[in-house]
Amino acid sequence: MFEKLFTPIKIRGMELKHRIVMPAMGTKFSGQASYVTPTHINYHVERVKGGSALNIVEVCSVHTPSAPRGFLSISEDEYIPGGLKELTDAIHAEGGKAGLQLWQGSLAVGSDQTAQILMACDTPFSEEITLPGATIEEIKEVVTCFGKAAARAVEAGFDCVEFHCAHNYLPHSFLSGGINFRTDEYGGSFENRAKFPLECIRQSGKIFRKICRYSCELMPMMIIWKAA
Ligand SMILES: Cc1cc2nc3c(=O)[nH]c(=O)nc-3n(C[C@H](O)[C@H](O)[C@H](O)COP(=O)(O)O)c2cc1C
Repeated sequence: MFEKLFTPIKIRGMELKHRIVMPAMGTKFSGQASYVTPTHINYHVERVKGGSALNIVEVCSVHTPSAPRGFLSISEDEYIPGGLKELTDAIHAEGGKAGLQLWQGSLAVGSDQTAQILMACDTPFSEEITLPGATIEEIKEVVTCFGKAAARAVEAGFDCVEFHCAHNYLPHSFLSGGINFRTDEYGGSFENRAKFPLECIRQSGKIFRKICRYSCELMPMMIIWKAA
């Protein structure tokens, strides 16, 4: 079953020395900022030395107003010289490949009260509090930001990007019939619910290798909300 595990593989021109991939894992190494730190770099270099052929670098915000401090960001050009290029150079120098996970966190960005929370639809949390669903303008804005972020990832030296469409974050929330109760063209049928994530993916064009991470289950918070 695993006879090919330690053999090279070429995926759309990206040659991996074998098939062991490190998945994205948020580290909080940014502290209160959103830049790559020397700790990030050491951490990834050690994983390449330890045997990872492709490191997917953790959740990285694409949209400045909703980018929480304490998480990496690629929502502006300044983040490329702000450590992202240094990180890919360090991974490459050890013989590894680097992917970046492009992310819009929906409710999860609320860990930073200055970050704008974007929801797939109006979401009641109590009798008094309902978080509004993203407007069409906000949807278009985030789609554009995913495209710009993918282009920046190329500039920063990443070998691929991973589109985060899992874990109740915004693209997954739109896709899910258990979260998205919109009544416009972004809600209702599966095709309509898939419109936003597909627009985000397509916005990054044909220029790049893309992975899409999807989870089939809802995270507990949304299950509780739905049951209520
Ligand atoms: C501390 C921590 C941070 C994580 N951060 C991310 C992340 O940034 N993006 C993501 O898609 N998954 C994230 N995950 C999920 C992991 O990628 C992985 O799916 C999970 O740990 C299960 O893997 P396992 O079955 O090999 O344990 C994180 C998991 C942990 C434990």
